[in-house]
Amino acid sequence: MTTVTEADALEGLRDALGLLKDREQVAERLLDSSAKHSFDPDKELDWDAPFEDGKWFWPPELVSLYDTPLWKRMSEEQRIELSKHEAAALASLGIWFELILMQLLVRHVYDKAATSAHVRYALTEIEDECRHSKMFARLITRGGTPHYPVARVHHNLGRLFKTISTTPGSFTATLLGEEILDWMQRLTFPDERVQTLIRGVTRIHVVEEARHVRYAREELRRQMVTAPRWSQEFTRLTSGEFARVFSVAFINPEVYANVGLDQKEAMAQVKASGHRREIMQTGARRLTDFLDDIGVLRGPGRQLWRASGLLA
Ligand SMILES: [Fe+2]
Ligand SMILES: [Fe+2]
Repeated sequence: MTTVTEADALEGLRDALGLLKDREQVAERLLDSSAKHSFDPDKELDWDAPFEDGKWFWPPELVSLYDTPLWKRMSEEQRIELSKHEAAALASLGIWFELILMQLLVRHVYDKAATSAHVRYALTEIEDECRHSKMFARLITRGGTPHYPVARVHHNLGRLFKTISTTPGSFTATLLGEEILDWMQRLTFPDERVQTLIRGVTRIHVVEEARHVRYAREELRRQMVTAPRWSQEFTRLTSGEFARVFSVAFINPEVYANVGLDQKEAMAQVKASGHRREIMQTGARRLTDFLDDIGVLRGPGRQLWRASGLLA
């Protein structure tokens, strides 16, 4: 039997009234969950097992070219090979995001009391991201594909952003980096058509990321009420720009050339693909609904969100 504690009841009431939750209480719960459900990927997964013949490295429907004329001309082996390169490109993107996020978290807690649960949780999240980035790097190496860094211009935009971004801007970018990939990973880990190692990596990531999403959402909700007005307006505008960069950086176009496809043709077909648009918008919906709800999608930034293809 589950017992409803006073804290649960209070949290439910706050939800119902749309009020902010107590920052320390949120962090204590996330610390509890971290203590119970954290994984060491090096020990948890069998890295030496051979890959299974005929299995995918990413669910086919989530591969960028799925259902395009080009896809229909590709052999099954070539499609699976593309899924392997796209999984490596997404793992590379994941590492890029996580490095940015770790720095944002360090900046976020720099002026706060290290004894608070809020700061202790941020440090715990950095530990999670360290393990994740090492796990993704090991996965890329194990797959034998190249590592796929983002374009130089995005790499440098990231450098600037992680150095100067405001707190609400940081948490908006965090959610953008985490929620769409999380949606894809939730479809990947239960999928029996997918390689066991990929399923293991995505399962660990989904379990641990759920806490990160919770922490960022609670903090962003708080920031959109408490941050100075200019900072809220700035977040509305810049989040549209993040969305645009994110959707361009999502798949590295080098993957097409590396599986023997014409890069320009592949990119044009992905751009024209109704299936792909639907996948990206569906993947982003939970996030865009939330951002709309807390007032981030108001004003001219909304047009940028539409232009990014992530908002219908
Ligand atoms: Fe992560
Ligand atoms: Fe994360």
